[in-house]
Amino acid sequence: MMSDKPSNPDRVQPPQVADQPAAAAQTAACEAANWGDFVQRCDNCRNCDLGSSRTNCVVWRGALPAPLMLVGEGPGAQEDLEGKPFVGQSGQLLDLLLQANGLTEQQLHVCNIVKCRPPGNRQPSEEEAQACRPLFREQFLFVRPKVILLLGATAYRYFTGRRDGITKVRGQWIENNGYFIMPTLHPAYVLRDNRQRDKIWADVCAVRLKLEALGLLEPLQFVPAMPQGRKKESN
Ligand code: URA
Repeated sequence: MMSDKPSNPDRVQPPQVADQPAAAAQTAACEAANWGDFVQRCDNCRNCDLGSSRTNCVVWRGALPAPLMLVGEGPGAQEDLEGKPFVGQSGQLLDLLLQANGLTEQQLHVCNIVKCRPPGNRQPSEEEAQACRPLFREQFLFVRPKVILLLGATAYRYFTGRRDGITKVRGQWIENNGYFIMPTLHPAYVLRDNRQRDKIWADVCAVRLKLEALGLLEPLQFVPAMPQGRKKESN
């Protein structure tokens, strides 16, 4: 049964405000309250029909703000159950690739074009993406990313408004208004065809290097190697 109460209260937890000078702490506390309000509004959203078939509204995981924003298509079954994006098999592969590049949840914010699961894991329609857009825009302003990794053709299409094939445009930076946007393959595609793994890996490496070049991350102290499995061994 759908409920307006988030089943996972963790995800409304505001960013930490401790150990900051008073003015900065006040700003952060204010932002935290606004973020809590934003997540509440997402949970109550009925801007399209997906709001009535979902279990949970899936807003985010990771950090806030964050230099890197990862954008997928829409929640799948596991995400719908847990109320967090990319926690199923695709998310496990994604995390494996990120971690092998020294990227942790403290440095990135994960979300989707639509916040509610399209039934049967179909692609979100144009209307559903449009209905979700105001909330997505607001989220983007909270996150204030410099680098954006678009996961798959649907994220690419709805984020940029372009319709080129993802295999053609992946791996090529789009610079827009001071943002650096990298389209890549969806991890689910790579799970179906492991020969594509080196492509998504190359794109995650390029994202890491861009964040370093922008002075947003310290250079890695090791040479990252492409992991071979589907999820972390400790999982
Ligand atoms: N696929 C997506 O595009 N997003 C998710 O959150 C999970 C799977």
